[in-house]
Amino acid sequence: MARVLTGIQSSGRQHLGNILGAVLPAIEMSKNLENEAYLFIADLHSLTTIKDPKQRKENLIATAAAWLACGINPNKAVFYAQSHLPECTELTWYLNCFAPYPMLANAHSFKDKSNNLSDVNAGLFDYPVLMASDILLYDADIVPVGKDQKQHLEITRDLASSFNYKYGDTFIVPEPKISESLMTVPGTDGRKMSKSYGNVVDVFLPIKQLKKQIMGIQTDSTPLEEPKDPNTCNVFALYKLIGTQNQVADLAAKYRGGNFGYGHAKTALFELILEEFGEAREKFDHYMANPGEVMSALKIGAEKARPVAQSTLNRVRDKLGF
Ligand code: ADP
Ligand code: TRP
Repeated sequence: MARVLTGIQSSGRQHLGNILGAVLPAIEMSKNLENEAYLFIADLHSLTTIKDPKQRKENLIATAAAWLACGINPNKAVFYAQSHLPECTELTWYLNCFAPYPMLANAHSFKDKSNNLSDVNAGLFDYPVLMASDILLYDADIVPVGKDQKQHLEITRDLASSFNYKYGDTFIVPEPKISESLMTVPGTDGRKMSKSYGNVVDVFLPIKQLKKQIMGIQTDSTPLEEPKDPNTCNVFALYKLIGTQNQVADLAAKYRGGNFGYGHAKTALFELILEEFGEAREKFDHYMANPGEVMSALKIGAEKARPVAQSTLNRVRDKLGF
């Protein structure tokens, strides 16, 4: 049985792009009986940018609530918050003392933000080492990540192999699983859906606000009577990612047939989202109203992960003479 581990940014409310691109694929993976899934919310990483404690807590609850609402089973997957296992920060220090400066200075995550060095904190510089610690602490075999995280995985493997070389087998050297073909969910303006572009569809919003978001999707000005090309339409692009083959074919035929306006298409998308995410929306509201339940779910995960973390840390302490 392989241990598959991945981290989730604790960025708060999860939009449709996050859900289709990250949440649902990871939950699917966690259901594979041949794997043991470790999924954690990387709330320590968030401190490199977010300094407000209230926002941090809210982000943790909202992120975990979305994952739980979408179907992660905390009794099966090991689902936890990174900060609930301080073993991770101890291991980070040890790994830091083996991380060559140029390796970290060359990391894209640092380079991209280093134009203005006075804005960079040591935590940001050290981001890849904390990530290596997340992975090595739990003896992960496989780490599924997006292309943007590939270099971080290489750093993790370097740190693990050079430590093993010096001190004898200590860490499992993890295999990255880079998903090249992960879908990119378009936003309401046709660009990649992203919080930073303000073009998201948040399926957990109250119904009126959700409708407003969907009605705000940008379309061209082809008059209602005229036939339309579904393949150039932002509404159809989203519908296609959620609907069944038959539903998608039906909608495409309506576009091409004329007398079907973008307003109609938006209503169809809105109804489909309510149908697909109705249950998740109810669960999300429940978790947001009962944050104690969310914390209990994360605690179950932390208790399962802790013995693994402690055993790794004991190995490392022993090797280092602490
Ligand atoms: P955002 O761009 O809104 O800040 P994040 O960078 O926090 O989103 O992404 C969290 C996860 O969701 C990552 O795994 C990322 O690959 C995935 N993701 C984000 N936006 C999209 C999108 N538009 N389509 C597919 N996956 C996405
Ligand atoms: N850095 C990852 C991201 O931005 C999140 C993350 C933190 C992670 N620690 C991890 C992913 C460990 C995989 C394994 O998406």
